Amino acid sequence: MNAESGFEIKPVYRPEDVPAGAPLGEPGEYPYTRGPYPTMYTKRPWTMRQYAGFGTATESNARYHQLLKAGTMGLSVAFDLPTQMGYDSDDPIAHGEVGKVGVAIDSIDDMRKLFDGIPLDQVSTSMTINAPGSVLLLLYQLVAEEQGVEGGKLQGTIQNDILKEYIARGTYIFPPKPSLRLVADTFAYCRAEIPKWNTISISGYHMAEAGATPAQEIAFTLANGMEYVRAALAAGLAVDDFAPRLSFFFVARTTLLEEIAKFRAARRMWARIMREEFGAQDPKSLMLRFHTQTAGVQLTAQQPEVNLVRVAIQALGAIAGGTQSLHTNAYDEAIALPTEKSARLALRTQQVLAYESGLTGTVDPFAGSYAIEAMTDEVEREATALIERVFSFGSVVDAIEQGFQKEEIETSAYRIANEIDSGERVVVGVNRFTVDDQEKYDPLRVDPAIEAAQVGRLATLRAERDSAAVEAALGDLAKAAQGTENVLPLMKDALRLRATVGEVCHTLRGVWGIYHPVERF
Ligand code: 3HC
Repeated sequence: MNAESGFEIKPVYRPEDVPAGAPLGEPGEYPYTRGPYPTMYTKRPWTMRQYAGFGTATESNARYHQLLKAGTMGLSVAFDLPTQMGYDSDDPIAHGEVGKVGVAIDSIDDMRKLFDGIPLDQVSTSMTINAPGSVLLLLYQLVAEEQGVEGGKLQGTIQNDILKEYIARGTYIFPPKPSLRLVADTFAYCRAEIPKWNTISISGYHMAEAGATPAQEIAFTLANGMEYVRAALAAGLAVDDFAPRLSFFFVARTTLLEEIAKFRAARRMWARIMREEFGAQDPKSLMLRFHTQTAGVQLTAQQPEVNLVRVAIQALGAIAGGTQSLHTNAYDEAIALPTEKSARLALRTQQVLAYESGLTGTVDPFAGSYAIEAMTDEVEREATALIERVFSFGSVVDAIEQGFQKEEIETSAYRIANEIDSGERVVVGVNRFTVDDQEKYDPLRVDPAIEAAQVGRLATLRAERDSAAVEAALGDLAKAAQGTENVLPLMKDALRLRATVGEVCHTLRGVWGIYHPVERF
C-alpha cells in the first residue's frame, strides 16, 4: 500500500526502519518533533476554535455567543467573499455574495456589532482574511480600544497568507511585491502595537483541499513561510523580532497515521530551517505552532452522518500530531452552512476527545512507534526534496509564476479523482456501501434580504460621517503606499473616521494595481 505522499507503507515496521539516534528530542526542545511545549495538553488542551460567520454582523455575533456558551475556547471569523476581496456590500461586484460564505463587514460599525458583548481581552480570535488582513485587524484593534482593551492584551491571528491565495485559494487583490510589503508592514506594526498577535497563519489547508498530498502540503507551506521570512528580513526586520509570531494551518485527513507523521515532520523541518537557514536564536522562532481543520474535501453529501465518524478520526490525528488549535467540521458541511445543532455536535466531538479519551494525559503518545517514526522520516524526506524544487525556480513567487505548485497539486487531484472513479480508493457511501434512499436534509439558508439591509446601512454611514476627513485620510494613505512608510497607522486613521474596507482597499489598488494570474494554457 502507498501513502498519500507516495512512499510505500510497509505491512510491518521493525526497529531497523527507524535509524538509530534519530534526533527525536524531548517535547518542547529542538527540533520540536514531539511538540512545541514540554507539557502540551497535560497543562492546557488545544484551543477548540470553530470557524463560523454568515449573514450580518448581528447574526454572526449571536452564533459566537452560542458557541462560547457551548464551550468553544476561541473564535474564528469567516468573512463573505466581498470582504475577502476588499469590496463593500454596495459595490456592484458584490451583488449576490453579501453574507453568503461568511459575515459581511464594511466598516467599524459592523465590527463593533460582530464583537458585541465579547470581552476582547479574554478571548482569542482568528480571522480568515488575507489580502485585506491588515484592514480587518485594525478594525478589531479599534473596537478593542472602544472596549478599553489595549493592543498588548489582544490575542489572535489573521490568516494574511497571500502566497497560498495565488496558488490555491484565489482571494488575492494586489500583485506579489506590494502584497509582501503589506505583510512585512503588518509584522512590524504588530510587534510594536499588538505584540501577542499571530501575524500570519501560513496555510497548507487550502492546497490540501485543492488536492495536494501531505508532503506537498507541508513543502509548499514551509516554502511560503521561508518567502515571508525573506521578505521581512529584506524590509529590515530582525528574524527573532517577528518569527515567534508566525503560525501555521494544516488539514487533518482520515489517513490517521500519515497525518500524525506529517505534523511531526513539519515541526522538525521548520525548526531546522529557522535555525540553520535564518540563524534564529529565540526558541519561539523555531517552534512551529499550528491550527488544524478537519478535511472538508473528504466529507460526503451522501449519508452525511458518516461524516461525524470521519471528523472524529481526523480530529484524533490532529491531536495526536500536537495541534495548538482545532476546527472540527460539521457533518453537513459538504451540503450547506452548518445548522446550530450540527455545529454543536462538531464541537462535542472535540470535547469527547479532550475529556473522555485520555489523550490529554500524556505528550506525543505515538513517539517511538516504528511505523510513526519511519513515516515521519519519509514525509520529511519527500517534503524536503519538494522545497528544493520550489527554490530551484529562484523564489516562491518565481515558482508560482511558472505554475509549478498549482500543476503539482492538480496532478495529484486528478490522480485522486481517477482512483475514486475506478473504485480503487474507497469512499464509504459514495463508491461502496451506498444506499438508495437518502434521508431528507433541511439546510440552513442565508436570507437574501441581508444584502439590501447592509447596503442601506452603508448609505447611512456615508451620509453621516465627515467625508472630507475620510478623503484626506485616504489621500495620506495613498502617499504612504507610494513610498516606504508603514501603511498600517494611516489605514487605522481612515478606518477610525469610518472609511470602509472597500475604500481602503480601493485606495491601495489605485497605487499598487491588481494581480492578474499568468495564463499558462
Ligand atoms: N505550556 C506552556 N504554555 C502553553 C501551553 C503549554 N503546554 N499550551 C499553551 N500555552 C500558551 C501559549 O504559549 C500561548 O501563550 P502566548 O501567546 O503568550 O505564547 C497560549 O497558551 C495560547 O496557546 P496557543 O498559542 O498554543 O493557542 P492559540 O489558540 O492561542 O493559538 C495558533 C494557536 C495556531 C498559534 C493561532 O495561530 C491560531 O489560533 N490559529 C487559528 C487559525 C484559524 O482558526 N484559522 C481558521 C481558518 S479557516 C479557513 O481558512 C477557511 C476556509 O477557506 C477553509
